[in-house]
Amino acid sequence: MKKFTVIGNWKLNGNNNFVDKFIIKLKKYFLDNPIFYKIVLAPPLLYVHHFTSNIREKNFFIGAQNVDIHISGSFTGEISVDMLQDNGIKYVIIGHSERRKFHHESNEIIAKKFSLLKQRNMVPILCIGETLEEKKQNKTQLICSKQIDDILKYVGENAFKNSIIAYEPIWAIGSGYSATAREIQNINNFIKNYISDYSNVKRNEIITQYGGSVDDLNIEEFFMQDDIDGVLLGGASISLHKFIKILQLIHNLKI
Ligand code: 13P
Repeated sequence: MKKFTVIGNWKLNGNNNFVDKFIIKLKKYFLDNPIFYKIVLAPPLLYVHHFTSNIREKNFFIGAQNVDIHISGSFTGEISVDMLQDNGIKYVIIGHSERRKFHHESNEIIAKKFSLLKQRNMVPILCIGETLEEKKQNKTQLICSKQIDDILKYVGENAFKNSIIAYEPIWAIGSGYSATAREIQNINNFIKNYISDYSNVKRNEIITQYGGSVDDLNIEEFFMQDDIDGVLLGGASISLHKFIKILQLIHNLKI
């Protein structure tokens, strides 16, 4: 059966009322539809306990949207890998283009976060991808390989064992225009070949996902591609209706 992971990145969205409704609906859905794939939901951290204390489902995990590069100390506003681990969180999104842009995170900072997560046996979900300008210049592979190289240089040959790479072209995020299934399949194939050529990790151990305007209309086509091992949802993960519909469509595709 195809291994697939649906990750929901809530970004800066949600409130108690919404979380309560979400949990009720999700619990009901899980009762009727046992999940054979993985779901990782990354709400703002204030809501983690609402989820973990209410949903116990083997393949459902709560993730974080960020982590600090420090373990403890005078770093106002930050959360460490140990704090996440202490609260049962294993999956952490890093390198998202919104953090690169609005929080000026460099490839070096992202590599440090990646490394800390690996040291704790946690799972980094590394977002990579190109701008529209770079796409027009045919630089997608170049940009992705550079972002991968920076991790390999810092973390070493085993970096991408038990890690997730999410190809998230910046132009597709929140735009309503996703990359095509063929474009994603091609770049994910390239990413897997690149990593297996330049590191210790075998091709079939590498997990490549896609994010950027994924919804209930394109999920089935993405699911069918050999090298799309999952999706990273933004907007569709904060629409209860769309989120449940996406889960249902994947459920129906059980192959
Ligand atoms: P959208 O699904 O809203 O395009 O967002 C994708 C994303 O940024 C997930 O991390």
